[in-house]
Amino acid sequence: MKIAVLAGDGIGPEIIAQAERILLALKSDGLKFELEPGLLGGCAVDATGEPFPEVTRQLVAQADAVLLGAVGGPRYDSLPREKRPEQGLLAIRKALNLFANLRPAILYPELASASSLKPEIVSGLDILIVRELTGDIYFGQPRGIEQRDGQRVGFNTMIYSEMEIRRIAHVAFQAARKRKGRLCSVDKMNVLECTQLWRDVVSETAAAYPDVSLSHMLVDNAAMQLVRDPKQFDVIVTGNMFGDILSDEASMLTGSIGMLPSASLDDQNKGLYEPIHGSAPDIAGKNIANPLATILSVAMMLRYTFAQEEAALRIEGAVGKVLAQGYRTHDIFEPGTQKVGTAEMGEAVLASL
Ligand code: IPM
Ligand code: MG
Repeated sequence: MKIAVLAGDGIGPEIIAQAERILLALKSDGLKFELEPGLLGGCAVDATGEPFPEVTRQLVAQADAVLLGAVGGPRYDSLPREKRPEQGLLAIRKALNLFANLRPAILYPELASASSLKPEIVSGLDILIVRELTGDIYFGQPRGIEQRDGQRVGFNTMIYSEMEIRRIAHVAFQAARKRKGRLCSVDKMNVLECTQLWRDVVSETAAAYPDVSLSHMLVDNAAMQLVRDPKQFDVIVTGNMFGDILSDEASMLTGSIGMLPSASLDDQNKGLYEPIHGSAPDIAGKNIANPLATILSVAMMLRYTFAQEEAALRIEGAVGKVLAQGYRTHDIFEPGTQKVGTAEMGEAVLASL
């Protein structure tokens, strides 16, 4: 197996370094793979002028899996849109056809009081957000800013084909089947035709999954229900933009966005694995970023691309153990626990592995 490692920008290199330590430990235990570094995002712009250069395109096309840190930084915000790091991320998702983005939001019992919600609202929380990742208003044409009647107008196109909706619905139904068997599809069908089609196609797809109970929710209500009573959800399936927003919201239920991994998959279990947080330029290079989301992304890689469930559970167990031992990076620190840096947290996970 070949794993392309794209550390990216900001805290990316620091958190990826910790994830690599975990991978190398598994390698010495017999897991067979090669790590191949590459450039994506701002660091790629600096080196080549492009956020997703051709060499990286070739590297990831040949890899079985991609491990990504984070991309972006204020330095690049003034570049033309097509040169910005975020475009590199969108382009790699599209190039590899990674249409299924799985974002689990799991609350570790030790972190119940780190959530901004009351512990009784979030304790035991275990939600999976299935976000469509290669369509919607993110990619729809036409788009732009232009002059019309003497003033500027900005416009984007929200668009989904039934094929795109159906394939992500299948991923979500299958995920729900392996969990508690409940799927909630989120749309805005009271206003947007595109999402009326979304609701229709998801409902049609349900016929193949009589064992899964399907419900529908409007996105504004879903945002509200996520903070009112998040445990009502098992699996949520939604489009690219609503999924972007709801997954950030769900992450905070778990105490810190620094805890949540993600997998972006094509239809053959090739995947890109990344923490859902960004490059956090304000804390880059200070050894304070939380590496756990990236380490947990490695666990997802082992589960989905390598089909190594045991190794995945081993990593997840090790993370649970360091939290139980009281180790905390600054984002999840509370009085009475032990504050550690990025590298020390990686060291602790390695030790408990
Ligand atoms: C995410 C991020 C990206 C997105 C940005 C960086 C383009 O917010 O992965 O959630 O909007 O998809
Ligand atoms: Mg986002």
